[in-house]
Amino acid sequence: MNAIKLHKIERWLLEKNLRWASKLVYYLIFLLYNSSIPAEAEIGEGTQFAYAGIGVVLHADSRIGCNVLIGQHVTVGGRAPLKGVPVIEDACFLGPGAVILGPIRVGKGSIVGANAVVLHDVPPRSVVAGVPARVIRSNIRTRDYYNVWNPADPPAADVVSIGSAPARPARKETTAP
Ligand SMILES: CC(C)(COP(=O)(O)OP(=O)(O)OC[C@H]1O[C@@H](n2cnc3c(N)ncnc32)[C@H](O)[C@@H]1OP(=O)(O)O)[C@@H](O)C(=O)NCCC(=O)NCCS
Repeated sequence: MNAIKLHKIERWLLEKNLRWASKLVYYLIFLLYNSSIPAEAEIGEGTQFAYAGIGVVLHADSRIGCNVLIGQHVTVGGRAPLKGVPVIEDACFLGPGAVILGPIRVGKGSIVGANAVVLHDVPPRSVVAGVPARVIRSNIRTRDYYNVWNPADPPAADVVSIGSAPARPARKETTAP
């Protein structure tokens, strides 16, 4: 069992107008995983929660793309008084403890480091880390960090390091699943 499966049920019930049953599943998720994952939050196909989805908090208006991996204790939420909540594009990795706030977009194939606090847009295929989060690498191959197929990945590593970080060794080429 995984919170993502329960979220699918919760959402299906809401679509069928069974709001009370959907709410029941919401509380079941809360009880089992200590997570707040409302039915209204959009979560794309192939997206998974690490460790079954422990401690994840998603805003009801948040939109998570496909094939995203969401670590334990991740928060995706609002940043009052700003209006709007994050959009996480496809094939991103949200490291454990990451907090992503406000009307921002995490670009396709990006990596959010453990415990990062992300307050601004993240360009596609970037690594961000720190509090507040800053881009530490650009133009990465997503699969060098996280075993996901991102069609936008370039064929060979072309990593731009910012600061003192050396280039990350490229993972062996893989073929599309
Ligand atoms: C953010 C991350 C992806 C960066 O990986 P990387 O590209 O290999 O980067 P490096 O480890 O070479 O570090 C580059 C710089 O960023 C810093 N850094 C790395 N991760 C950081 C983090 N989470 N928060 C703050 N700074 C971080 C390093 O200290 C280094 O700083 P320096 O250049 O001043 O020495 C990685 O550190 C991370 O957080 N991965 C998550 C792993 C994870 O969640 N695993 C699952 C556990 S259950």
